[in-house]
Amino acid sequence: MYDVTEIRKDFPILSREVNGKPLVYLDNGASAQKPQVVIDAITQAYSFEYANVHRGLHYLSNLATDKYEAVRGTVQKFLNAAHEDEILFTSGTTEALNMISYAWAAPKLQAGDEIILSVMEHHANIVPWHFLRERQGVVLKWVDTDVNGDLDPQAVIDAIGPKTKIIAITHMSNVLGTVVDVKSICTAARARGVPVVVDGSQSSVHMPVDVQDIGCDFFAITGHKLYGPTASGALYVRRDRMAEMRPFMGGGDMIREVSRDVITYNDPPHKFESGTPGIVQMIGMGVALNYMMGLGMGNIATHEHILRDYAQTKLSGLNWLNIQGNSETKGAIFSFTLDGAGHPHDISTVVDQRGIAVRAGHHCAQPLMQHLGVTATCRASFGLYNTTEEVDKLVDALELCHDLFA
Ligand code: ALA
Repeated sequence: MYDVTEIRKDFPILSREVNGKPLVYLDNGASAQKPQVVIDAITQAYSFEYANVHRGLHYLSNLATDKYEAVRGTVQKFLNAAHEDEILFTSGTTEALNMISYAWAAPKLQAGDEIILSVMEHHANIVPWHFLRERQGVVLKWVDTDVNGDLDPQAVIDAIGPKTKIIAITHMSNVLGTVVDVKSICTAARARGVPVVVDGSQSSVHMPVDVQDIGCDFFAITGHKLYGPTASGALYVRRDRMAEMRPFMGGGDMIREVSRDVITYNDPPHKFESGTPGIVQMIGMGVALNYMMGLGMGNIATHEHILRDYAQTKLSGLNWLNIQGNSETKGAIFSFTLDGAGHPHDISTVVDQRGIAVRAGHHCAQPLMQHLGVTATCRASFGLYNTTEEVDKLVDALELCHDLFA
């Protein structure tokens, strides 16, 4: 049974107060809090098990290497990848998407080739493709969401043309919470030979992910949103696509031999991982993923669906609140503005006085803001430790905002 009261005890920060009130942390879309097991793993690694990886033959280097490399298998299990060597370690989704753009796409794409994006992509899944537009004359083709914030997979499939070389799509919007039917997109794209990059930064936090079932070519996750350390992440690359990638960053570890005139590369996945990596961050991410799998990704999803339904009912009862996105498939992420109220920054400042952390701004999704006709929203994004009581506290605080600003 999913006992949220017990689970909350795993997260020390949830016992603190903010502005004299118990913390209500609703900024999980930006970054999630860390359970004690992750904090302990980091302390243990730095206190007693630390050395560089892949470099020494001494005891501590071997120990650190074993612990670090074991995380590849953990990520493989978390994403149900077919092979452990399909998992690349990254510092997060931003690095992962830049890597695909530089290492896979740039050498293959020419002026006039097309990349399909949805309007609700995060900047991390936009800017690396804009680089190819600026540098190589690649054309970005945008697919809009409908009035509910849904992305019709058929609209993405219909946008595929003879010049389409990549589809880069989010699995779950960080603003609207919309979950995209990426499997249908991948099935149709694969039949046409078009690779699909899936930004799984948000989805992987809230639902079970099976990259083989989805049928994607690339799938990126971010450790700090997955209750793990900052600067940790992973990129799933299907073996055939990885064989097509040129190396990304050059340096130690990614090479086999270096001479004055020639270099030869390490085997994948190490060929794409250069320099001293985030050793302890990755060890911590592995612990976080095991923690989530221990709770059960299906159980987390069920708990968060209860929160989503409860919040949807409560928030839609506030007739002065404009909720952006009303998809039936959405996760527990709510973006909103208040009729006649101040800037979303003012709302977040007022609710913060009640100990409630939400994010205000454009959420690194400016094309979506333009599509919605707003410059910014306030966003409450829920995680595995949030409760319906916290939804009530948010509603009370928003009523105070309405009284103050309307
Ligand atoms: N991508 C993060 C967010 O949505 C930072 O807030």
